[in-house]
Amino acid sequence: MNPPMPAGLDTLQDSLFPLGETARIGEIVVPPCRPEHLGDPDFREAHGLKYAYAGGSMANGISSLRLAGSLAQEGMLGFFGAAGLQPDEIEKTIDQAQALPKSTSIGFNIINSPNEPNLEAAVADLYLRRGVRLIEASAYLDLSLPLVRYRVKGLQRLPTGDVFAVNRVAAKVSRVEVATRFMSPPPESFLRELVNQGDIDAETARMAEAVPMADDITAEADSGGHTDNRPAITLLPTMLALRDRLQEKYCFARPVRVGAAGGIATPTAAAAAFAMGAAYVMTGSINQACVESGTSEAVRTMLAEAGQADVAMAPAADMFELGVKVQVLKRGTMFAMRAGKLYDIYRTNESLEALPVAQRATLERDYFRAPCDDIWRLTREYFLKRDPAQAERGERDPKHKMALVFRWYLGQASRWANIGEPDRKVDYQVWCGPAMGAFNEWAKGSFLEDPSERRAAVVALNIMTGAAYLTRVHGLRCQGARVEPRAAAFAPRRIEDLRKLLG
Ligand SMILES: Cc1cc2nc3c(=O)[nH]c(=O)nc-3n(C[C@H](O)[C@H](O)[C@H](O)COP(=O)(O)O)c2cc1C
Repeated sequence: MNPPMPAGLDTLQDSLFPLGETARIGEIVVPPCRPEHLGDPDFREAHGLKYAYAGGSMANGISSLRLAGSLAQEGMLGFFGAAGLQPDEIEKTIDQAQALPKSTSIGFNIINSPNEPNLEAAVADLYLRRGVRLIEASAYLDLSLPLVRYRVKGLQRLPTGDVFAVNRVAAKVSRVEVATRFMSPPPESFLRELVNQGDIDAETARMAEAVPMADDITAEADSGGHTDNRPAITLLPTMLALRDRLQEKYCFARPVRVGAAGGIATPTAAAAAFAMGAAYVMTGSINQACVESGTSEAVRTMLAEAGQADVAMAPAADMFELGVKVQVLKRGTMFAMRAGKLYDIYRTNESLEALPVAQRATLERDYFRAPCDDIWRLTREYFLKRDPAQAERGERDPKHKMALVFRWYLGQASRWANIGEPDRKVDYQVWCGPAMGAFNEWAKGSFLEDPSERRAAVVALNIMTGAAYLTRVHGLRCQGARVEPRAAAFAPRRIEDLRKLLG
């Protein structure tokens, strides 16, 4: 067959729209592909969605209810960023979420907190008590009893004999060993403990053997926030293959679905993820840059200026002592450098008192803007209310005291960013991945270049529509067509144009 044409932009777009109709270009036939065709139909059905698209949780309410709700309204999944919040704050949001239309497509985050097991248990309990039926479980290395309890409570035996879990779990993972735990039934030891505690009966424990811990696994590649910096192109196939192996072993009635996150910010990236077999795509960094996010205008403006290389790894506040890192924005803030310096000081010194005088003076002047003793007083008061054991340990153990003081800076740096504290701009901690730069590049020259135009659902619908269009372009290429590069691109469109285009 002869490659039929070098397709010009207008002619190609005229030929490939409407996306839902078979296109004939010369001798080539391109099958329909609408944005709502992309991904796994079971994912859409299970969560009541039109599109296989999810906005991931972003801590401290950065993925606000407004953000999650706007995605749900458009037929996508939205997760509220409950990490870092106390149960009473989360409960207020649950009240509001449950009053919204499409509330079943709004999920809540639960984050593994080995340092604060009571908090994790209280959050899981809250979700059960308040009938939150979808959670995003993140940062787990090992499963925890509260998470297993959430999953197995209310299991039902269907007339078909299959077991149905009313509590849906989407787990975010970047490692095979963690994914294995979520793609397997809940561990027997936890089930036994729950039976012994009278939390579940023996029949529920038996039913639990027939369901995986998670319905959905998000393979998190190089992303904003906590990340192992894995490339999506290697991580996703590994997770899909693992799922297939474990499905063969356990024969679940509904195989675990595997979605892709990390670096998805453009139609091209989404099309590639779906082509690799992703059940759904999840975004994060780009949603923080949208008007509905719970961060500040100052941060949104900084994010709009970021290039792909303007990110860096920096110590994480929650697992500082372990040397765990998070990906943050580098451009326009000194946070990554300063937090890295604090970690180095922590590693090489035994106490605040042992720091060289000049070094301590620098920290007090530039980082804390207060004497270390004042910061310790604030930190101690905070922990006496929230987790007294930490404060007591800090009193006994000078190295731990130093860690808590340094973690004060890391925690405040996120707060300053979220509230847009003008005087602390150089210290903003803004979790962000290279996706942000890729998005800015794609948005350049379009209405989405302006941060005030960035609405999560408009961005998402552009990505999904563009992905469907590019999938059709790929169909042309697969049949030997020569496609002009300009035609193989999808520029952002305003919502009314998208709606017209989609019919
Ligand atoms: C500001 C920010 C905060 C985040 N906080 C959380 C969180 O609390 N829980 C979680 O599961 N994932 C969190 N993530 C990860 C996102 O949910 C999402 O999986 C990730 O950002 C996708 O990669 P991307 O940043 O390349 O789009 C966060 C990401 C960002 C950018």
